[in-house]
Amino acid sequence: MAATSTTPRDWTSHPPYIYPAYASTPLRGPKNPLIPLKQTLSELTGPVYGHESVGKLDSDLTRNSAVNGEPLGERIIVTGRVLDEAGRPVPNTLIEIWQANAAGRYVHKVDQHPAPLDPNFLGAGRCVTDEEGRYRYKTVKPGAYPWGNHYNAWRPNHIHLSLFGHTLASRLVTQMYFPGDPLLALDPIYQSAPEGARERMICSFSIDVTEPDYALGYVFDIVLRGPKETPMENVK
Ligand SMILES: [Fe+2]
Repeated sequence: MAATSTTPRDWTSHPPYIYPAYASTPLRGPKNPLIPLKQTLSELTGPVYGHESVGKLDSDLTRNSAVNGEPLGERIIVTGRVLDEAGRPVPNTLIEIWQANAAGRYVHKVDQHPAPLDPNFLGAGRCVTDEEGRYRYKTVKPGAYPWGNHYNAWRPNHIHLSLFGHTLASRLVTQMYFPGDPLLALDPIYQSAPEGARERMICSFSIDVTEPDYALGYVFDIVLRGPKETPMENVK
């Protein structure tokens, strides 16, 4: 396979490794300059992780873990395109999705805050982009939840996403937020991404994607590299 080259990462699109208001970053962020690694064939070709095993139900979080009914909450459809640094669609991109339920609770032993779990909602799914770089999944809108960063800290509604592009250099982990959320202005994770770039993490409501009598629709395009790159999660 011929190697493709990638432009240097545009760091003005991303949060710094250490952002003191996001309290765990001073503990885990590197304090010494990073050492650039030369890109070799292994970074510029592959990998392809688990694409073959993605089934149709994987992209429907309202059904993929249902036990005895439908999950509670506001059903939503999220769709968009995955694009490379030149704005070209990136087909065959594996997107992994995880989120809290409508009450703001994760199925995770560390999440013990007093909001209910939903027996019909796991909060995990995945999908693969088509030839036009397009993806689509169904879920319920995640609730806001408290976290221990500071007094009365609440995370805005958000969905976590991990993407594997066509090379390791085009891996991206990010969060998608919702328009008009008053918690965005108070959230140090969202605020840690530079102004002008952080807005790329907010999806748009779409009446065209909305399905009558069924679910609201949102559009969220994701850019893996280049000057319009979607900000990466500050977890390394
Ligand atoms: Fe979260």
